[in-house]
Amino acid sequence: MNAAALYLLLTLCACSASDSYPKAQNIIWQSTNFKTVLTWEPKPTDAYSYTVEYSVIGADRQRNPHCIRSSTSWCDLSSSLTDLKANYTADVLSEPPRGVTSDLTEPPYSTSPRFCPYKDTDIGRPDFKLQVSEDGSKITLYVTDPLTNLFQDGRQRTIRDIFSDDLQYLVTYRKSESTGKKQHKSKDSVIELTGLDKGESYCFNVQAYIPSRRTDKQLGEMSQTHCSNVENKSIFDVYSTGSIAAGVLLVLLLIGAAIAVAVVCYRRRTNARMNGQDKVTQGV
Ligand SMILES: *[C@@H]1O[C@H](CO)[C@@H](O)[C@H](O)[C@H]1NC(C)=O
Ligand SMILES: *[C@@H]1O[C@H](CO)[C@@H](O)[C@H](O)[C@H]1NC(C)=O
Repeated sequence: MNAAALYLLLTLCACSASDSYPKAQNIIWQSTNFKTVLTWEPKPTDAYSYTVEYSVIGADRQRNPHCIRSSTSWCDLSSSLTDLKANYTADVLSEPPRGVTSDLTEPPYSTSPRFCPYKDTDIGRPDFKLQVSEDGSKITLYVTDPLTNLFQDGRQRTIRDIFSDDLQYLVTYRKSESTGKKQHKSKDSVIELTGLDKGESYCFNVQAYIPSRRTDKQLGEMSQTHCSNVENKSIFDVYSTGSIAAGVLLVLLLIGAAIAVAVVCYRRRTNARMNGQDKVTQGV
């Protein structure tokens, strides 16, 4: 075999090897509160690796050092997508394993869907506290803005820091013994609900609401349910009217019985005394 034939053979082998690297499939942006991880399939074998190249659409491609010749099928790009309002795409390249050199000029690759952090990241569930006014007709919700995965000057930023006036909260509430729901939208993280029925317990859920987004991305994850406690329920709220009536009747019956017993005893004693007097009189 001469040198040219050997070279041809090696080139063919390299080509067929690279052709056998599977292309990434099902590329998905998984993103909540700006923690953004690109995932795909399949998991690589020892025979190959993945490299991710991302870019603002139309601009230069960039690489994240953690996602070059990597043997995982995900890449955390949270700190890479710095222009939150830009549209990004990412290419996932199937390459030889780390440390293996390759003459490949064009590795097989697939391109992700478009992703804009500001428009597309999911918003996680907020937490909140309740405060009931003295007279029970007003309830104030203190919502804690969820933290993001973004930092500025060493401080973790909240979704309010990012969305500012674009962020609202949607409160869904109902009386605790009813299923009829009401909703209230608030631009503020401190939310006052007024005109509530005194002495009623209410249950609340809160979720972020970003009206400037596409409809299917406007609502964040629903919070846990918190209910107001009613400490000063009047006796009529705690017990039904029927059981109160029964209670009153029972008390009346007991009093009646006591009176009856007292009267009977009194009569007996009086009779006994009179009989005794009679006997005394008779004896004299
Ligand atoms: C991102 O893409 C959307 C939809 O194609 C477009 O409306 C928007 O202007 C783009 N944003 C930027 C910053 O280019
Ligand atoms: C409950 O009762 C106490 C004492 O009677 C009163 O000070 C308080 O304001 C009441 N709270 C509510 C929510 O009605």
